[in-house]
Amino acid sequence: LAKVEVDLTKIPEGKNVVIKWRGKPVFIRHRTESEISEANATQLSELRDPQSDSDRVKKPEWLVMLGVCTHLGCVPIGEAGDYGGWYCPCHGSHYDISGRIRKGPAPLNLEIPQYEFEGEDSLIIG
Ligand code: FES
Repeated sequence: LAKVEVDLTKIPEGKNVVIKWRGKPVFIRHRTESEISEANATQLSELRDPQSDSDRVKKPEWLVMLGVCTHLGCVPIGEAGDYGGWYCPCHGSHYDISGRIRKGPAPLNLEIPQYEFEGEDSLIIG
């Protein structure tokens, strides 16, 4: 399937969902207000792969990214790690609530796939 449609009404605030797209996991998080503030409060100088949160999302409440660790491709675990985001158990990479690499061997932030919103309730990946 080239494109996958996701019903956003099924993902409550503060929850993660993992879907499959082109054989890869895609992480979708419905972020809370405090998570959005935290993501925006981070200084670029603190980041290994400097990228502002606003360059990683189309709507602040929805974080959409490939669930593939940029080190050697394991699938990170959600709601884990030292930065309130994702943790890759393979070699210990920590990603923040914007999916940016903060600690461990991974060189880059979690990748953002092509996606768009269709109305308020639907997300199309691909
Ligand atoms: Fe994720 Fe190595 S594959 S830390």
